[in-house]
This record gives sequence, C-alpha cells and structure tokens, in this order.
Amino acid sequence: MLDEPYYGSAAPLVPPNPTYAKTVRAAKGCQACHLWRIGTQTVFGEGPTPANLMLVGEQPGDKEDLAGHPFVGPAGRILDEALEAAGLKREEVYLTNAVKHFKWVPKGERRLHQKPNRGEIQACHPWLEAELEIVKPKALVLLGATAAQAILGPKFKLTQNRGKFIESDLAEFLIPTLHPSAVLRVPDRRAREEALEGLISDLRLVASKL
Ligand code: URA
Ligand code: SF4
Repeated sequence: MLDEPYYGSAAPLVPPNPTYAKTVRAAKGCQACHLWRIGTQTVFGEGPTPANLMLVGEQPGDKEDLAGHPFVGPAGRILDEALEAAGLKREEVYLTNAVKHFKWVPKGERRLHQKPNRGEIQACHPWLEAELEIVKPKALVLLGATAAQAILGPKFKLTQNRGKFIESDLAEFLIPTLHPSAVLRVPDRRAREEALEGLISDLRLVASKL
C-alpha cells in the first residue's frame, strides 16, 4: 500500500564532507521515511556554522512545517524568552530538531502533533549527525525526551537527568533539559512559571560554560 509507514535511513543522502549548504540541499528531497508525505517540507536546522551552542528539539510543529524554519511557533516563543533570560542570543545558536518533518493527524480543522517514533528518529538521525559535524558545538542542549533519546539512546530517562551535564564525545558540554512545549502544556500557571524557570536555569548553566 502506498500509504504504509516505512522506515529507511537518510544515511545514503548525506553528502561526503558535508557543508551546511550541500546538506540542506540534500535534505530537501529526503524520502528516507514516510514522514515526507505527511509534512509539507523538510525543516532543517538553522544558525551559524560552526556555533558554540547547538539546541536540538523534537520535530517541526504546525507553524514550522508551513514556514520551513525551526522554532517559529508557540514553542519558539517560549524558547526565545528562555534564551534571552539566560543571556543567550538566538542568532548565535544553531537550532535544529531530531526529526525534520512534521508528523500530525487531523483533528477537526487542526493538525494535531504526533510524537515521532523510534523508526522515524533513526531514519532521520544521519541528518542530525551531519549537523553535529558541521556545527561542532562546544555545548549541546537536548530539549525534551525525544531529542535526549535520539542522542543518548531510547532508555535515557529525562526526568532523572535533566539539568545535569553528561559525558559525551559529541560536545564538551552536553545537557538534557525540558522541551519548551512541555512548559506550555503545564496547566497550572504557577507550575508553568516554575517549569519555565527550570528551563532558564539549565540554559544559564550552559551559558556559564561558553
Ligand atoms: N517543537 C520542536 O521540537 N521543534 C520545533 O521546531 C518547534 C516545536
Ligand atoms: Fe527524511 Fe527525516 Fe523527513 Fe524522514 S523525517 S523523510 S528521514 S528528513
């Protein structure tokens, strides 16, 4: 069936000695998993290359899917607020996602976000690896469980490890923290502010290392 999900690998599409421009171009046509049919376009990471700081989210949301840029919707606004509060400049940060196509199901008029599964995360992983090679970040921030598990493995528990630096070959400083969308989803206002403070304090910790 044409609409059956499938899970390949982006690896054969990644250019040798990848530069940012070559890699973005190659990723535009990626069909390594079935999400290319569900999302509007590949939303690749953006920012300076190399960059001191790289942030990894989950996948583009509704707004990102239409705009073609990462973190330009509601989660992006929370992220902007947190970066600013931590004394970091968005334009100095390389921002990307573990999965480059928006996964959604229709709900009335809306497009409801769906969490990417392991097969999709693995199919897309070569793009993230290429970005790490191009960006060579000193510090790598993993926003939420999907990003953390994409980099650290499916058994990684975010709740027990958020806000702690983790030894890694990928960057001198690697830290998992809350996803800005998780902050937005906290129903109680007080608790939501506390969650945002948590994200900000983790980003401050990172800023102190740069
Ligand atoms: N959530 C993400 O994880 N990434 C985006 O780019 C937007 C929302
Ligand atoms: Fe390719 Fe990733 Fe899009 Fe799947 S989600 S088609 S692997 S870019």
